[in-house]
Amino acid sequence: METLSEVEVMMPEAFLAWWSKAWEVGQHVAVMGMNGSGKTTFEHLLLAPRKYVLALDAKGYDGSLTNYGWPRTDKWPLPREMRERVRDGEPCRVILGNPARTEKQFAANNLLMRRVLKDVFLVGNWTVLADEGIILAHRKFVNAGDNLDRLFITARDRKISLVYGVQRPSIGRTSPAGLSAFSQSTWVCVSRTRDERVMERVAEICGRPKAEVMGLISALPRFAFAVLGLDPFEPIRIVLPPKLEPRKKPERRNWLWP
Ligand SMILES: Nc1ncnc2c1ncn2[C@@H]1O[C@H](COP(=O)(O)OP(=O)(O)O)[C@@H](O)[C@H]1O
Ligand SMILES: [Mg+2]
Repeated sequence: METLSEVEVMMPEAFLAWWSKAWEVGQHVAVMGMNGSGKTTFEHLLLAPRKYVLALDAKGYDGSLTNYGWPRTDKWPLPREMRERVRDGEPCRVILGNPARTEKQFAANNLLMRRVLKDVFLVGNWTVLADEGIILAHRKFVNAGDNLDRLFITARDRKISLVYGVQRPSIGRTSPAGLSAFSQSTWVCVSRTRDERVMERVAEICGRPKAEVMGLISALPRFAFAVLGLDPFEPIRIVLPPKLEPRKKPERRNWLWP
């Protein structure tokens, strides 16, 4: 018999207290929501428990990502200052990629993202924010689909967690990385949508009744996210993340520590 899942609406502080215990090292998180639904902002809350984070700015400047207030770099391996922080056990949360406008700048960023996604597997222990999954995976853009795919499958043993943001799960049709993103994620987070394919896919992945998931997701308030684990007996958590304080677009020089 299908029963209604328990639903818990949480304030960000209570959510974090639960989430920092629930999210184990090596578990991947898929975040789904339309453009402008607040994915990047929500991911800042998701990432709060992690000390070592590489956030890939695949768009060549993402305003919401910049509002994280984290240092940026276009160097990989990371600059010495950052590597020393890691060595000393200090938190190191970094945005990777330059603001880009020209073809040349985009090409340099794309190369950087591909290298990070390829090598991070050898380094281990990082949490990787692969926001804009479609841009990272797509051949016409970063073209790191294969690297992402391999990372999804092998990361767990390397204590690497991926947080993967996409607009729709149908990305799986154009890139294998989309498929593994959902089959390999322990947590699925979704904002409100009326797109039936999204809701059906979420219900399927999480093993919850479709009608229940559809009712819940279509009624979420703006910017709120539902967090579903793979255990269908776990409550579904709902949280409205805090708005990020706006920050200035960084200068191209000297932005290591803003
Ligand atoms: N929880 C929130 N509260 C208030 N405003 C928000 C919230 N989340 C996002 N926003 C606003 O909505 C816009 C889009 O958010 P963003 O996180 O970039 O969405 P996405 O990554 O899904 O495109 C931003 O201008 C941001 O300030
Ligand atoms: Mg975004």
